[in-house]
Amino acid sequence: MSISIKNPSEITKMRIAGKLAAEVLEMIAPHVIPGISTDELDQICHDYIVNQQQAIPAPLNYRGFPKSICTSINQTICHGIPSAKKLKKGDIINIDITVIKEGYHGDTSQMFAVGAIAQHAQRLMDITRESLFLGIEQVKPGATFGDIGHAIQKHAESNRYSIVREFCGHGIGKNFHEDPHVMHFGKQGEGEVLEAGMIFTIEPMLNIGKRYMKVLKDGWTAVTKDRSLSAQWEHTILVTPEGYEILTLRQEEI
Ligand code: MF3
Ligand code: CO
Ligand code: CO
Repeated sequence: MSISIKNPSEITKMRIAGKLAAEVLEMIAPHVIPGISTDELDQICHDYIVNQQQAIPAPLNYRGFPKSICTSINQTICHGIPSAKKLKKGDIINIDITVIKEGYHGDTSQMFAVGAIAQHAQRLMDITRESLFLGIEQVKPGATFGDIGHAIQKHAESNRYSIVREFCGHGIGKNFHEDPHVMHFGKQGEGEVLEAGMIFTIEPMLNIGKRYMKVLKDGWTAVTKDRSLSAQWEHTILVTPEGYEILTLRQEEI
């Protein structure tokens, strides 16, 4: 396994790609309401990325993925494919955006509540986001990937949620997915040591029920085996000499 260290000009491009991905989420947020279909959300994002941002939606045709964004509703863990299915009040949905600008990738996702949602669904989304940020707060030169995984696992499991193990965060740059695999569970001090200039995603997936998943016949959609609700949040992170920089931060998060 070799984790690339990005040079200053690559970091500049990753900042731009990350900002664009974050801006797609900001743009789509007001559209995530009851009655809209995930195909419509996909179309709006696609057009915005291509026409306004002059960028490329990375998922489209990636290993045969048929759409420009991932839309994962309720018991869908990740990689949901946009369709004619309409959102309804009470749904929770993850929208995952990856854009390519000047050859570099920015990757980020967030949860949205569709109208009023149940308290147990809100709590799952909140704890999952907190887990992501506790993981991010571990990032600095000299820390290990195990430190990140441990922080996420501790918060998730102390709140009685399970962590999906089949999908991980990942290095990112010229490639959508590169080394390392960033696990969302682990032990303090284990795994590779972080160095300034590494860029990777952290993207924990937490379930209310058991951790097990299955992939539907479409070859992509990952759902919880027990059909319990699942949530995910994702950011692209740069390791800096002092700690970390979130390349996909949205205005509301500053
Ligand atoms: N954006 C996802 C991730 O966080 C990957 C989606 S692959 C796709 O790694 F093909 F489904 F788009
Ligand atoms: Co990712
Ligand atoms: Co993603």
